[in-house]
Parts: sequence; C-alpha cells; structure tokens
Amino acid sequence: MKYDFTTIPNRRNTGSFKWDFSSEKKDAFPFSVADMEWKTAPQIIEAMKDFATKGFFCYSAADEAYRTCVKDFMLRRHNWAIENDWIVCTPGVVAAVNTAVRTFTSEGEGVIIQPPVYYPFANAINNNKRKLIANSLIKTESSYDMDFAGLEELAKDPNNKLMILCSPHNPVGRVWTKEELQTVAEICLRNDVMLVSDEIHFDITRTQHTCLPTLGKEYADNCVVCTAVSKTFNIAGLGTSNIIIPNEQVRTAFASQLATDGYTCINCCSYPATLAAYTQCDDWIDEMNRHVDENFALLGSFLKENLPQIKLFDREGTYLAWLDMSALGMDDISLEKFMIDKCGIIPDPGYWFGEEGKGFTRLDIAVPKEILKKALIELKNQIDNL
Ligand SMILES: Cc1ncc(COP(=O)(O)O)c(C=O)c1O
Repeated sequence: MKYDFTTIPNRRNTGSFKWDFSSEKKDAFPFSVADMEWKTAPQIIEAMKDFATKGFFCYSAADEAYRTCVKDFMLRRHNWAIENDWIVCTPGVVAAVNTAVRTFTSEGEGVIIQPPVYYPFANAINNNKRKLIANSLIKTESSYDMDFAGLEELAKDPNNKLMILCSPHNPVGRVWTKEELQTVAEICLRNDVMLVSDEIHFDITRTQHTCLPTLGKEYADNCVVCTAVSKTFNIAGLGTSNIIIPNEQVRTAFASQLATDGYTCINCCSYPATLAAYTQCDDWIDEMNRHVDENFALLGSFLKENLPQIKLFDREGTYLAWLDMSALGMDDISLEKFMIDKCGIIPDPGYWFGEEGKGFTRLDIAVPKEILKKALIELKNQIDNL
C-alpha cells in the first residue's frame, strides 16, 4: 500500500461542514456528508503547497493545460473522447444542476428525478419554483431498477422539460448499465426532455461506468454531464467542477445562464489541484477504491453475522452504504436520534432522499477501517439493548 488510508482523523473545529455542523453531538462520528475521512493524494497536497508559496490567490480560469488534463483523464479512465472547449467550469455540481434547471426550464415546468435520490436535486427544483416529477426507482430484493414505463409516461407530458439522472446513483449505489442508460437517453430524446447526467461518483465504482454521451452523438447532443475532481479526490471544499457539454447550442445556453448567475472564475487553488489529480494520481484512485470495497465487504459480513435484521443493499459504485433499518420498528426521527445519541453514528437519514427512503439510513463508508469496526460494534450493542 503506497498511500495512507488508515490514520484516524480529527477534523473538529476546522470549519468542516461534516464535523462541525452536521450534529450537536460532538462525540459522535460523522458518517453523513459525502466526503472522505482520509487525506487527499499527497501529489495534490504538494501541488497546492507549491502554489501557496507563490502567494498569489487570484481570479483564475480554465486554460488549455487545465482543459487538456481533463480531456486526457476522460479518455484514459472513461474511454470518452471530449474536446477541450466542451468543458464549462462551475463552483460545484449542485450549482451546475441549479443552473441547468434555470437554463432548460421555466417556472412551473416539470423536472424528473428518480427518488430515493441525492436531495439537492429536489431543492434545485423546488427553490427555482419548478415542478418536481418523481419517477421513483423500483426496489428489488437487494438493489434497485429504473421504472422505464413510468418514465416514458412522464416524459410524454410536454410540461416536463428536464430530467436529472444520478449516475452512479446516490444513495442506492447502482452503476447503471449501458442498456439502462441507453433506454433513459432514448426516452428523453424521443420526448424532447433535456438530460442532466450527474456523474460525480464516476471514479468510485466496482463495475464499468458509462459516460452517457459515449452512447451516441444524438444522445450526447441532448445532455449536460456533471463531473468533478472533488468527489474522487476528497477536495470538495475547493468548489470547482467540470461540466461537459458536447453540443454547442446547449453549451452556449448553459454558459449564458451561468454568467447570469454570476459565475465566471474557477477557484484558483483548484487549478493546481486538478492538474495534479488528473495527471499523477490514477494509482491513488485505484487504492482508494480497494479500501471502499473492503469496507463495504466488512459492513456486509458484520451485518449478516450480527444484525441480520438490517438489510444492506448491493453497491456497485459510490462510497455510500444504503441500509434498510425498518425492521427496528422506529419512526424516522426516532431512528435518527437512536443512531446519533445511542450509537454515536451521525448518518444521513434515508427520508432526506424522498418518501422512498423512509426507514433507511445512508452511511458514508470512506473511513479508516478501525472507525467502521468500532461503529458497528456500538451499533450491535445498542440494538441488543433495545
Ligand atoms: C450525486 C451528487 N451530486 C453532487 C454532489 C455535490 O457536488 P458539489 O460538491 O460539486 O456541489 C454530491 C455530493 O455528495 C453528490 O453525491
């Protein structure tokens, strides 16, 4: 092992959203916000140190060197040939999703999402006074499928203009197959529904992820793809993402709304970080994925042996575990309180992800293994005491 994925962090009192703001209970461990409890790659830290010692923290933009390293990464890791000028930088994927909602829809028009799903999608729809249209996922024995017949019906409604796809899916952990993505892309294209494909988790996978535009030019022309170095390398606080838009007209419309929203620069520190991340750190990604896989296996075997009443759903991607805890018979608020106050585990409660997440808990398992083991033992002890 070349990198350190075992040191136990203490990030209290650093302004960390996850550590300092996600719960009042300061001795509980946050398994909540999706950032990792191991440091970013040392190559990125070095690049940022070099940058910091120069002493200029200026207005910055994505130049050709930046764009080329993004382009090369997409080809090398995702078999996706993009052009430098397809990249539009935003201060995060959530910002991009909001901008896309404003670009491609008007007030009162429908935006389709697939709950249970990353809750800022619903916020982007509601806050912009659009109509949330739910095409709920279908729960199977140990995973989730898409409801294509339902999607076709919803897409047919001319008031529904946009779909936000989560690929890989947070929180259910699916890495959608080529066939599934093709079906979604085809339904959207046929019904004149623009597709925003949020692929921020695309490097954290156990099976091959497909970038949506690789399915064909006609689909590429009807989509906006959200990517970022942030999730992969645990540098979300740098606030820069790469939105890749193959079609020129679509890109111009998006960029124009982005300018109206007041965003023109990239965070200057994300410049050296992105260059280092996308040119020097492929082996860090592979090692990070091994640790996430091991943690998921540990979680699965612990639950099977000790807490079979908790159902863990399969995970093909993301570093998030999706647990059905409804067998404990608690309502959502009691379950959340039980997890935090008794077990010392701050979760993302399932109901945040929509009605479909009631009784569920999402745990971020990108943590040193010892932390996970300790939390699981406490979970078992507290459930045994119920
Ligand atoms: C699916 C998904 N999209 C977007 C984000 C956040 O993106 P950003 O920090 O770039 O706004 C997350 C973070 O957890 C996520 O899971």
